[in-house]
Amino acid sequence: MAALGVGLLTLLPVCARRSPVLRPIHRLLSRPGTVAADVRREEQSSGSVETDQTPKKRFSEVQKERREQAQRTVLIHCPSKISEKKFLKYLSQHGPIHNHFFYESFGLYAVVEFCQKESVASLQSVTRTPGLGTEAAIPFRSRCFSLKLRSPSGQPSEPARVPCNSQSPPSSKKLFELLCYAESIDDQLDTLLKASQLTEENTRLRHLTCSLIEDVAGAYFPDCAVRPFGSSVNSFGKLGCDLDMFLDLDEIGKFSAHKTSGNFLMEFQVKNVPSERIATQKILSVIGECLDQFGPGCVGVQKILNARCPLVRFSHQASGFQCDLTTNNRIALKSSELLYIYGALDSRVRALVFSVRCWARAHSLTSSIPGAWITNFSLTMMVIFFLQRRSPPILPTLDYLENLADAEDKCVIEGHNCTFIRDLNRIKPSENTETLELLLKEFFEYFGNFAFNKNSINIRQGREQNKPESSPLHIQNPFETSLNISKNVTQSQLQKFVDLARESAWILHQQDKDRPSPSGNQPWGLATLLLPSVTNSLSLAKKKRKKPASERIKNLLESIKSSGAEGPSDTNGKRTVSTQA
Ligand code: GTP
Ligand code: MG
Repeated sequence: MAALGVGLLTLLPVCARRSPVLRPIHRLLSRPGTVAADVRREEQSSGSVETDQTPKKRFSEVQKERREQAQRTVLIHCPSKISEKKFLKYLSQHGPIHNHFFYESFGLYAVVEFCQKESVASLQSVTRTPGLGTEAAIPFRSRCFSLKLRSPSGQPSEPARVPCNSQSPPSSKKLFELLCYAESIDDQLDTLLKASQLTEENTRLRHLTCSLIEDVAGAYFPDCAVRPFGSSVNSFGKLGCDLDMFLDLDEIGKFSAHKTSGNFLMEFQVKNVPSERIATQKILSVIGECLDQFGPGCVGVQKILNARCPLVRFSHQASGFQCDLTTNNRIALKSSELLYIYGALDSRVRALVFSVRCWARAHSLTSSIPGAWITNFSLTMMVIFFLQRRSPPILPTLDYLENLADAEDKCVIEGHNCTFIRDLNRIKPSENTETLELLLKEFFEYFGNFAFNKNSINIRQGREQNKPESSPLHIQNPFETSLNISKNVTQSQLQKFVDLARESAWILHQQDKDRPSPSGNQPWGLATLLLPSVTNSLSLAKKKRKKPASERIKNLLESIKSSGAEGPSDTNGKRTVSTQA
């Protein structure tokens, strides 16, 4: 996942950290309401999860609507200057247009959604395969087009640049400014969420990309579906995150089963292979090859077929997404649905998850490269578990969601019980009214003091359990319950997480005592927690002092809590403070 750069704020020049006069912010602040409210207007937020007032759609309903929308949509590479009006008029020959937007990625692109699917076929029927002179074109007819001007010089007047929609997360500098000018820590968490979550347009582009890949796979497996999963759809996706796709071949089986009747049973003749895994590898190998050879804009195709979960990884140039295509991965799709439900149950969940993920990224606790790091998926599980542990709980346990399920929710995948209620509206909201600020602080304190050496995190039961094995961090896979989703995490990475959690809890405690008034002059609240200096000072401090930093901070926290008295500093909770006990 291409997240905010490592060390979120390292890129900021010192003057940017200090200067209170920042034009865009003044503009934001000149309006009534909080920064978060302004960002909401500014950033055209996602809409993938609805507000508390509206009836909430089931995950399957949202995905079905998005898929149909994507099937009526085309992607057009446009000349850099184009008249929007003429462009739309030209395309309307093929049928009414429901929606469109422009964005930039290796040139100007338009995403155009027709009202009817037939319009796409009509457009394809008048589209030609380019003659390339010395090179030869593979005549693959997709829904990715290039629009050329017949006589660019003959344009009556220079058309204006069309308004482009950004598909990137806000820069570190902009995010930092927004955080510094927020009104409260709650507002900061909300601001971070609104500024970095997937936009409506980015969500559309993700579904369109899946649909385009489905067209390629569909050449071999008609009726297959390519479905997005992971953070693109679970409501925890951040602009710039990867696009996880699942090639679903089960639809094909379902279709044939439907047609079976009477005493006869007709079966396709097929090739048999020794195992499901080998079948998966063979299918992905061929689809990977097709994407590499014919897929417009699919570059850097890697077939990673010997992984635990075989996949094809590639970049989709036109959309700018880093894509992972898997098949036979239905449980991951179910996990995405479960996270979607948790994300939609209470508005604090996503805000907290985004902040914790951003904090982890800023301190290099997570990485886009696979390794011994905690993953975003594991962090999300930790936040969910923490919210299940509040009193009263903010989120229900998975066992509770299973108890609410009715017959039609029943779901068993490869022998694993994946049943839970899918109708969000039947789950009672929490009575807990804790603020985000408190939750953030308590999250760091909770995991800063968690007995990782003996306990496991388990969202199914929502309580700590003895670890069944000796991995430093044990987070039970909610569906494949014998598996640990954080088996890769080493003791040193876990220790780094604990150290930073304790220090962050301590900083928030300090700020409680002597809160600086929010201003752009200095980082405060969440912005302070994202400063990289803490890691540096911790590692420096570790080198200099005998007592481990984590222990010192733990002691500090205890002393603050028990005495409610002065900490050992003069600090306003600023990062520059000495952590010496
Ligand atoms: P990003 O970092 O934003 O991409 O988050 P993500 O949730 O999409 O994570 P990632 O791309 O690493 O994985 C995609 C999905 O695969 C997750 O949402 C999970 O559903 C599933 N997944 C990831 N890691 C594991 C794991 O260790 N075990 C299991 N069972 N599923 C996993
Ligand atoms: Mg992902």
